[in-house]
Amino acid sequence: MGMEKTSQFKALDERYYMPAFSRSMAIVKGEGSKVWDADEKEYIDCVAGIAVCSTGHCHPAVTKAICDQAHSLIHCSNLYYVPHQGEVAKKIVEITGMHKAFFSNSGAEAIDGALKLARVRTGKKKFVAFTHGFHGRTVGSLAVTHKPAIREPFEPLGFPCTFVEYGDVDGVKQVVDKDTAAVIVEPIQGEAGVIIPPNSFMEGIREVCDGTGALMVVDEVQTGMGRTGKWLAIQHTKAVPDMVTLAKGIASGFPMGALVAREGLEFKKSEHGSTFAGGPLACAASLATIGVIEKCLPDIARKGERFRKGLARYHPRVRGLMIGITVGDKCPDVQKECAEKGILVNCAADGNLRLVPPLVITDAEIDRVIGVIDGALGKVML
Ligand SMILES: Cc1ncc(COP(=O)(O)O)c(C=O)c1O
Repeated sequence: MGMEKTSQFKALDERYYMPAFSRSMAIVKGEGSKVWDADEKEYIDCVAGIAVCSTGHCHPAVTKAICDQAHSLIHCSNLYYVPHQGEVAKKIVEITGMHKAFFSNSGAEAIDGALKLARVRTGKKKFVAFTHGFHGRTVGSLAVTHKPAIREPFEPLGFPCTFVEYGDVDGVKQVVDKDTAAVIVEPIQGEAGVIIPPNSFMEGIREVCDGTGALMVVDEVQTGMGRTGKWLAIQHTKAVPDMVTLAKGIASGFPMGALVAREGLEFKKSEHGSTFAGGPLACAASLATIGVIEKCLPDIARKGERFRKGLARYHPRVRGLMIGITVGDKCPDVQKECAEKGILVNCAADGNLRLVPPLVITDAEIDRVIGVIDGALGKVML
């Protein structure tokens, strides 16, 4: 099998790039749900940049919006009104039911913004987050990210955080007090392997926060922007958060994140800022992305059910097009076999296979994915 071009990528990477990631192939082209590697092998992409490329790769509406904007203005400072920024903020406020937005360049930065806003508006310093939760790798977001192996080498981090077992409302009750600025929670844990808690967990956190004055920050960086069949995963529950963070699927791969907050919670002048955040290209990409997702949204739950049915014997956890299957230590073998057969999937934490395909994936593509995954899982799980 030809791997010539891929090995050129590998050689440069090994010599010149810091080895923080484990890498296998070089992806050089994408269209819809498909990508091609440097040696022209085709794949159906159920990784999608880890829940980023929701509109598929290079969706014509998104590509056109970026190119059109690039022809008129690539960047201007946030000292000025920015093309498309107000329109995207309006859309994001409407779909989240919040009051105002603030943009960032990534999910971790959106979380940093939420931590700062919680701290500055409540005047409190303590945070509560959850075991196996992931919120990013900046020094702020890392403070509320659980995994000791990635957090502890960088301690002390500036935001004191207590971790409670994910799903344990009583545990939340025990640690949240009048000095807690915010509870930060993923409505479905993504990096942990698509862990879907009962609705009562989110609703219970809301109650505890109401009782103590702590803010409820819902991290929808991975679950948001239509991924689960609603704009936000929290919208499957009755809980209404004080703040929501978004990123990943928000602009089809153009770097962008957002913090949205309810009425009464906003930054005042000079409390926060960023050179690039919410720039013209990001906002053009996001506006086009939201338009595409709006059209896909009614069909996401049905597509998720198609996956559930096809993979039923492996007991998948499915919420829209966010799917996890507990495989165990053979998960990397399954990932490898799927790649060999032209399907990209990835192993999240603890041997959990994760599928987060583009929201535009077709039924025929879903059936092909199911066939290949079934074959690979059958060997290690049945
Ligand atoms: C729930 C959640 N929050 C935050 C982040 C961090 O986002 P980013 O990698 O864009 O900084 C991630 C990334 O995987 C995530 O899944």
